[in-house]
Amino acid sequence: MSEFDPVIIAFVCNWCTYTAADLAGTSRLTYPPNVRLIRVMCTGMVDPQYVLKALLEGADAVLVSGCHPGDCHYINGNFKARRRIKLLKEILPRFGFDPQRLRLTWIGASDGVQFAGVMNDLVAQIRQLGPNQAKLQMVI
Ligand code: FES
Repeated sequence: MSEFDPVIIAFVCNWCTYTAADLAGTSRLTYPPNVRLIRVMCTGMVDPQYVLKALLEGADAVLVSGCHPGDCHYINGNFKARRRIKLLKEILPRFGFDPQRLRLTWIGASDGVQFAGVMNDLVAQIRQLGPNQAKLQMVI
């Protein structure tokens, strides 16, 4: 039996995590190819609807990752994201999703090693959790 290959949607801030992903690539660090990066200007612009839509359309997990607290280029966008993710995690079970399918991280532009580590860790965690039930229902 083949290993479950999760699809993870990652909303990453242009200024920090996206740059860290680029650094990981140029540093030839390896991480699973399961993550689809969506570059946004700031985590503060990640509407909760984007997260719900990704999960409802079959993503196995969603990552939101941006600048460390205090480093946001738009002053407080990442604090807004943190509040939204906290609330989203509370309502996800009402949609039938395990809150572990949503993760928020801070990865700075020079943290290519951390970026690869988070991706490896997240993919391993979602493999243990299993496929998103919404995706299974679409297949049936
Ligand atoms: S600019 Fe990176 S999180 Fe706001």
